[in-house]
Formats: sequence, C-alpha cells, structure tokens
Amino acid sequence: MPEHVLLRDAPPTAPRLAPPAARPAGQLLQQVLQQLDARLDGEPDCGHPMYLAHMRKPPHAVARAAYARTLHRQLNNHPYDGAGASSGMELECVRQLGGLFGWRRPLGHLCGGGTLANLEAAWLAREGLRERFGQAAEVVLAGSTQAHYCHARHARLLGMRWEPVASDWRGRMLPQALQRVLERGAATCVVASVGTPALGAVDPLPEIAALCARHGARLHADGSYGAYHVLAGNLDRATRAAVDALSEADSIVVDPHKHGLQPYGCGCVLLRDRATSEEPTQAGAFPAPVVSRGAKGPPAQDPDYVYDDAHGPHLGRIALEGSRPGASAAALWATLRLLPLVRGGEFAAALERSRQAALALWQALHDDAHWVMLAPPQLDVLAWGVRAGGVAESSRRARAVQQAARERGLHLSLTRLPGEAAVARAGMAWDGPQWLGLRACVMKPGQLDWVERIHGALRAAVRTVAC
Ligand SMILES: Cc1ncc(COP(=O)(O)O)c(C=O)c1O
Repeated sequence: MPEHVLLRDAPPTAPRLAPPAARPAGQLLQQVLQQLDARLDGEPDCGHPMYLAHMRKPPHAVARAAYARTLHRQLNNHPYDGAGASSGMELECVRQLGGLFGWRRPLGHLCGGGTLANLEAAWLAREGLRERFGQAAEVVLAGSTQAHYCHARHARLLGMRWEPVASDWRGRMLPQALQRVLERGAATCVVASVGTPALGAVDPLPEIAALCARHGARLHADGSYGAYHVLAGNLDRATRAAVDALSEADSIVVDPHKHGLQPYGCGCVLLRDRATSEEPTQAGAFPAPVVSRGAKGPPAQDPDYVYDDAHGPHLGRIALEGSRPGASAAALWATLRLLPLVRGGEFAAALERSRQAALALWQALHDDAHWVMLAPPQLDVLAWGVRAGGVAESSRRARAVQQAARERGLHLSLTRLPGEAAVARAGMAWDGPQWLGLRACVMKPGQLDWVERIHGALRAAVRTVAC
C-alpha cells in the first residue's frame, strides 16, 4: 500500500504531514527524512574524538552493512525456524566470545544489552543456589559499591538480597569486605566487575574467585564494558591477572555494543564452559533448556508451536527474551570474521590504542595542577576531580567545567568519586554530601592523536571556572 494512502487513513490524532493528493509518496518520504535529520542534528556525534561522555562509539562499517543487509528479512533468533541462518551465526558468535576466556563450549546467547544479560545471569544464579540451599533459602547478590546499578535492581526484582561490598579508593572491590559477607554463610552470588561504569575499575578477580571457591559462592563477572580487554597486550599486572581469571567465573557478560563495534541491542550472557562445568548438560550439541520441558513447567512455558524439535536448536529455549533480531547476530558474525578476536590482531590493537590514549590523557591531567587524579585507568575510562579546598567547591567546579568544555565541543560526563581519595590523597575537606568529578570514556583508538586537543579544551574550560 503506498504511503500516502496509509497517511490518509490514519486516525485523526496521528500527525498530519501534508494533504496526500498534493504530494507523491517519494516526495513525502524525503520530507519525513529531512525532518528526521533536523531532529537528529542537535545530537553530539559520538564518533568524534572530542566525544568522551559515555561508552558509545559508532558501529563498525561491516556491522552496519551486515545489519542493513539482513534487516528487511526480519529474522527472529528466538525459534530456530524463525531464522536458521542467523541462529547458526549467533551460536558461532557465542563460541567465539567464550573463546576469549578460554571457554571452548560455552552456553549462552545474545540479548538486548548488559542489563538484560546480567539479569539473566542473576536469575540463573538464584535458581542454582536455591537448588543447592533449598527453595526457602535467602539468596544474596553481592557486588561492589561501584558495580553497575542494574545489579541492585535485579536483586530486588528477583527477590534476592543486595549486599553492597566496600571498594577501595580506586573503585575496586575489597576482598576483605567480601570475605566478611561470605562468612555470614548465605547462599551468595558474587558479582565481580571487569570495568566499573563510573571509574573503569577492575575488581581483583583472582582473590574473589578464591574466596568464592572457599565459601561455595557463585561468581558472576560483569564484563559488559571491559571483558574484551582480555585481548589487550598493554594492561597493568593486576588488571591482566583479573582478566585472565575470568575463565574461573560461573557466568560472564560481555557487551558487543560497547567495545565490540556493534549497533545497540547486542549484549551477551555466557555460562561456564560446559567442558569443565559440573552442571548437567543434555547430550548432543545443544544444552538443556533453562525452563525444562514437561515435568516442571506448564506447557505454556515451552510451546510446541514455537519449539518444534524437528527444526533445530532454539535459542529461545535458553533466553528470557522473546523475539530477538537475527540482524544483530549477522552484524556481529560479520564483524568477527573481519576482525577476529585474537591477541595481536587488528581488533586487539584498537583496544590497546584507546587504552594508550586514556593513559596519555591521565598523564597530561596528572601533570596539570588544576586536577586531582585518582590512579591511572585500568582500562580506558578515567575519572578525576577539580582541585579545590573541599569537595563541595570541587563538585561545583566539575559541573562548571563540564558545561564550559561542552561549549568548546568537548563532551564529558560527571561521576561520583570515591571519598577516601578526596580526603586522604588530595587533602580536601569533606564539606559536602558527595564528591563529583569528571569522567571520560576514551574508547576510540583515533583519540590517541587528539589527547593534546582534549587536554587543551579542558585547560581552557577549567580556567573559566577556577580561580
Ligand atoms: C559494567 C556495566 N554493566 C552493565 C551495564 C548495562 O549495560 P546496558 O546499558 O547495555 O544495558 C553497563 C553499561 O554501561 C556497564 O558499564
């Protein structure tokens, strides 16, 4: 049906663009697209090197092309016969992402993003812990005070108790604090962050894994932002040890739509390698469904009209989400073919370069008396404060610098900085409710050539607000 007919037939409340008869459909389409462009024009370009506000970068050209090529087919990776080809690609992607951590046969799938992937991991953890400790057991989800806010939400949603674990002045979980939580003896799943959202901190996974093993706790690693860094050859020693210990987790989340160059709507949850797992698995290529067939769940949980076993492995059986874009799997699959996940490869080199840029920016700011620096970044997100006598004035200046920088085309975000660092390291008075600082996500390799300009814009911005 031509567009103008649709518009004429639209209900009276729908926006009216023009009388249909006066404008041919092609012209109307142009008009709508121009309006769209005008609406988008005010948005900062996240691909620009001066954009450091959030964990965003444009998808790779191959991802965009593969997505666009697949989009019109409206493939649905929930049932196998909704998208056999792209379901196969998804399984290949999952295997390759698991390979990052030395897992040869991981169970997992793509999903809408880190929040959903972490929700699913928490749900599975709860189910596993209830099976071990009894259905009435109180199940605890424990993560550092710097963990992404989705974990506390998930705990609430799933009827688990959220237990915040203290972190150090760099934003890393304190193993001693975790030990105290685990000694209370509850059925616990520990969330270790590989790249906290605010400070880019990496929790000490080797120590956390050892504590979990000793206390019978589950270990989930939230590597939404940082798990790809296992490929980077320029991590410091503690960070290297942490990412190398990812293989010891029971589940891992990694977001291809953050560092993996994918369009939004691409997260991934992975469960421990089935080759080493003690969890029961189904014979054959595909794992047992999360919601088991027959005995436990009502038939509505496993509808035959969706999961006709004649077809093949239904990803929907192991995913909470229903319909999911096959185009997303196709985009990731194509990206992984062009940029394989290997150390020393092109993809790894890009991660190394953006980390180098983050370190160079940290060093430039460190050598400039206007700022109060935390430790060097562990990955490629960094946060720092504005020098002042107390945290109240420092926070006010941070807001003002953010605004002044934006006027110079430099986009940063604000974040809460660890108080211990303000008082103990910078000698600032604790005279406010919190300490706000600036945050930069230096996630684009090209930013290495822009460090001077970024620093220059920051220097100019801080001069307008600090005395
Ligand atoms: C560590 C971490 N976990 C989870 C999330 C949530 O991911 P998403 O925004 O893809 O839902 C983020 C987002 O920045 C994150 O940094």
